[in-house]
Amino acid sequence: MLTWVDVRMPSIELDRSYLIYIDPDAGAEVRLADALQKRAQGGAIGVVTDETVAMLHWERIEAALRDRGMRVVSVVVPDGESSKTLSRAETVAENWVRGGLDRKSVVLALGGGVVGDLGGFVASVFLRGVPYVQVPTTLLAQVDSSVGGKTGVNLPSGKNLMGTFHQPLFVYADMSTLTTLSERDVSSGLAEIVKHGVIADPSLLALLEERAEDARKPIEEPVLLGELVRRSCTIKAQVVAADERETDVGQPGGGRARLNFGHTVGHALESASAHAHSAAGPLRHGEAVALGMLAAARIGVALGPGDPTLEARLEKLLPRLGLPIDLDRRLDAGVLERLNVDKKRSGARIHMVLVDRIGSTVITPVEPARLAEILLGSKPR
Ligand SMILES: NC(=O)c1ccc[n+]([C@@H]2O[C@H](COP(=O)([O-])OP(=O)(O)OC[C@H]3O[C@@H](n4cnc5c(N)ncnc54)[C@H](O)[C@@H]3O)[C@@H](O)[C@H]2O)c1
Repeated sequence: MLTWVDVRMPSIELDRSYLIYIDPDAGAEVRLADALQKRAQGGAIGVVTDETVAMLHWERIEAALRDRGMRVVSVVVPDGESSKTLSRAETVAENWVRGGLDRKSVVLALGGGVVGDLGGFVASVFLRGVPYVQVPTTLLAQVDSSVGGKTGVNLPSGKNLMGTFHQPLFVYADMSTLTTLSERDVSSGLAEIVKHGVIADPSLLALLEERAEDARKPIEEPVLLGELVRRSCTIKAQVVAADERETDVGQPGGGRARLNFGHTVGHALESASAHAHSAAGPLRHGEAVALGMLAAARIGVALGPGDPTLEARLEKLLPRLGLPIDLDRRLDAGVLERLNVDKKRSGARIHMVLVDRIGSTVITPVEPARLAEILLGSKPR
């Protein structure tokens, strides 16, 4: 059954509230096309997707759009993080201009977080900004990156260093797209659901603990997956609506910044793994977040306010979700050096998101050197 989550932004000048549709039924592309036709008001649709998603899911969506007489200009980018660049953004925009898109056009970003971040970014600056719709096709994108309006590309110096806040017209999660995901990408998305449970919803964490093995099976368990997506989006929507631009870091709980739980050390591990040569390749974003949550749990206890049960609880749950827990093996001085360039650093200190009890966060400013001391000092010898 089609359900939705309402993202209600406090009204500024424009009403920027929107719906996240979660559609687990066959024929979702028809309902997506209907929703798009209503909102596009005759404008052409500028699509961005990646090679894998184009091959697996674009044909049926394109057919549904063309059946309604909508004009479509699509651009397919290579898979993966290497497409999140300014030069790729230029290529996408150039193709849309040549295809005749104008200010009445609507952008459709069909894919995982890479395509969503890239497509949202180009939409926010194309002809000084056009509306866009997110159709997330990875679990990570459905529960996290498609919601909240953060768009962006990477720079050679680091991830997501150029970007905008641009909220979508709506988000359409067609749950059938998850059935073609690799096991590793399903697990990667589950990590962000764990995060949402840990920072804001003890009963969501308990549901994952109860049904961890089932949560890895989007084909057999579409109802469970739909429920996990809906509950995760509800949490993200509430946090984002209260602090869209992540300016409330000083507020109790940390505003939008609390969504960065697990991301400080996670980003450092992710970028270190991108430069290492391992047979498994670089860490997926969610895998890095899983390890980063373990690190944050340990740091929380060392600094005082952290929930002392959290690390052990995560160590039990994460492997059942197909996620790594080999934090100590991966930590070294090179990884911790990367904390120094974390963009969430303010002055000389990093704002660490800590969990004082499941469902509640505190932000603690801490020197990068102190983080390194805690993490390297706690490694088994
Ligand atoms: N904007 C935000 O708030 C936010 C939040 C979290 C993460 N992100 C960003 O999201 C990105 C990671 O997203 P991701 O994990 O979705 O990665 P991704 O977009 O690279 O997708 C992972 C892989 O899955 C493939 N894929 C996508 N959908 C598929 C499907 N249905 N079936 C089979 N294969 C499919 C893709 O082609 C790709 O190879 C990072 O760039 C990260 O910075 C953004």
